[in-house]
Amino acid sequence: MKEAVQNLLDTASSEVSGLGDDPKALDQARVKFLGRKGELAQLFKELGRVPEQERREAGRILNEAKAKLEAIFSDALEDSRKLAAGKREPIDVTVPGRVPRRGRLHPITQVALEITRIFNWLGFETVEGPEIELDYYNFEALNIPKDHPAREMQDTFYISEDVVLRTHTSPIQIRTMEKRRPPIRVIAPGRTYRCDSDVTHTPMFHQVEGLMVGKGVSFGDLKGVLTTFVHQMFGPDVGLRFRPSFFPFTEPSAEVDIQCVMCRGQGCRVCSQTGWLEILGSGMVDPEVYKYVGYDPEEVTGFAFGMGIERIAMLKFGIDDLRLFFENDLRFLNHF
Ligand code: PHE
Repeated sequence: MKEAVQNLLDTASSEVSGLGDDPKALDQARVKFLGRKGELAQLFKELGRVPEQERREAGRILNEAKAKLEAIFSDALEDSRKLAAGKREPIDVTVPGRVPRRGRLHPITQVALEITRIFNWLGFETVEGPEIELDYYNFEALNIPKDHPAREMQDTFYISEDVVLRTHTSPIQIRTMEKRRPPIRVIAPGRTYRCDSDVTHTPMFHQVEGLMVGKGVSFGDLKGVLTTFVHQMFGPDVGLRFRPSFFPFTEPSAEVDIQCVMCRGQGCRVCSQTGWLEILGSGMVDPEVYKYVGYDPEEVTGFAFGMGIERIAMLKFGIDDLRLFFENDLRFLNHF
């Protein structure tokens, strides 16, 4: 019995050392030696045939062998785990972390928010209107009848005979006046469309519309509000002038020029040597327009204005190519 046990232990350890770090093979070997029908179990069965006076001693030897076998296998399992762990790539704690890239608002959005923020502060409420607009709101109710030459200036995208992509944000004036009664003070940013594409024009661009209507609203209010806006947007030292103009839906009308932000009024390429830059159109709401919304021109007066956001953004950031806003080049966008 003693010999048989020693044999068993020897074969077990030599077999285990030949298995390397394969945990599956190790488990199979364990079953073969220590399993219920394994080699050690066979020896235990033979215990019955051992003469009575030697049986005690033989039992002790077998139990000892069982403990040794178990130790052989648990040691081998431990070794194979350590080996597998060693094969895994070590962690390099000196590698710099990956910094997440943060998105930000598009410069056009930033400027639109800045403009509306200033007018909100002046008591104007932000409103919106549809980009796909009825001819009626885009032209008709703004005193631009079907045969009016002003329609040609606008390069309109037509969807059907009486549906267009709005060519300006002015239809929001009509929609607002239809829905509300004076006093009205609203500011309306949004996308606008004209069939036009070159260095200074894109088919889609942005405008902000403003409208104030109430009892006794005067041209002086228009001047005061727009002067305050220019000083908030471009700084208190920037000069501005109101230049007579024409729009079918305002009378009188004025365009607002600011002193060239590039040359401070000295004259340069950007301002065509004039020292002035046009930034918006404005005027007192034409009494004709009130007819379409049922207001009494003897009761209320008001002013409206509209400006191109891209133009304001170019002047504010000193950008000389409109197309940069729409190329979505991250190197450009990351500046803002
Ligand atoms: N809608 C005009 C344009 O697009 C601007 C404007 C708005 C003028 C409001 C006067 C009053 O050019």
